[in-house]
Amino acid sequence: MEHQDISPAILYWGTPVVLISSNNPDGTTNIGPMSSAFWLGHGGVLGLDASSQTTQNILRTKQCVLNLASDNMADAINALAGTTGTDPVPEGKRPRGYRFVKDKFGIAGLTPRPSKNVACPGIKECPVIMEAELVTSHKMFGGRPAEGLILLVEVRILRVSIHENLRMEGHRNRVDADKWKPMIMMFCDLYGLKQGKIEHSNLADIEEEMYRPLSDLSGKVKDVHGDDEDDVVKDDAAEHVIGLVASNNQ
Ligand SMILES: Cc1cc2nc3c(=O)[nH]c(=O)nc-3n(C[C@H](O)[C@H](O)[C@H](O)COP(=O)(O)O)c2cc1C
Repeated sequence: MEHQDISPAILYWGTPVVLISSNNPDGTTNIGPMSSAFWLGHGGVLGLDASSQTTQNILRTKQCVLNLASDNMADAINALAGTTGTDPVPEGKRPRGYRFVKDKFGIAGLTPRPSKNVACPGIKECPVIMEAELVTSHKMFGGRPAEGLILLVEVRILRVSIHENLRMEGHRNRVDADKWKPMIMMFCDLYGLKQGKIEHSNLADIEEEMYRPLSDLSGKVKDVHGDDEDDVVKDDAAEHVIGLVASNNQ
């Protein structure tokens, strides 16, 4: 197959849909759908329009909750699409027909779920809920006319909560990827991963706990329901972190 050069207006090749809840200055909660997100260790990087209510709320409160949408939540996502919690609607969003909506939970038929570590609630219907705090933010498109229109917002995950049917059997702290059906946004449309796993990946042969050094060990969920295996490996990982820190300090 030959390749052809093209110039697409957007490069949204496919990322999971995240509903970010954050608190407004008046104490109510906003929900902003987004999908420019990726995760490393227990950190997340979010690409956010600087003019969004979500962005302003995160910068002001230094907190948010990241709720991952599953592939059966298209109605809620479509109800939120084209809305903003900013009144009046920011100039940049007006040509695209955005409208102000105050009650995002109401319009999307979603239910708040109280958080433990942050003031804003999560979203009960989302199978994955992550409470987060702001680490830092950077302006994207440096040196170009669009500089600062999008912010890269780094957050630290403080707590991960999942619908119990997503847990891997016999493990306290693992997700069964075969059961997780994320909503994926590709070129502004909504997709699922209906075909499931294509093939076993060699990367998956590496023990998952080996990645914990990049995570926040103090945030481990410790109440083990009969999966000693996870705990033993965690201890190894803790030693590995101590080793890493020691070698960095030499
Ligand atoms: C499925 C979906 C994905 C989106 N992805 C992003 C994104 O990655 N980054 C972003 O800034 N806006 C994204 N948007 C647009 C925001 O939702 C939009 O800016 C909205 O006004 C934010 O709401 P807020 O102003 O109340 O925070 C997305 C919208 C939808 C429906």
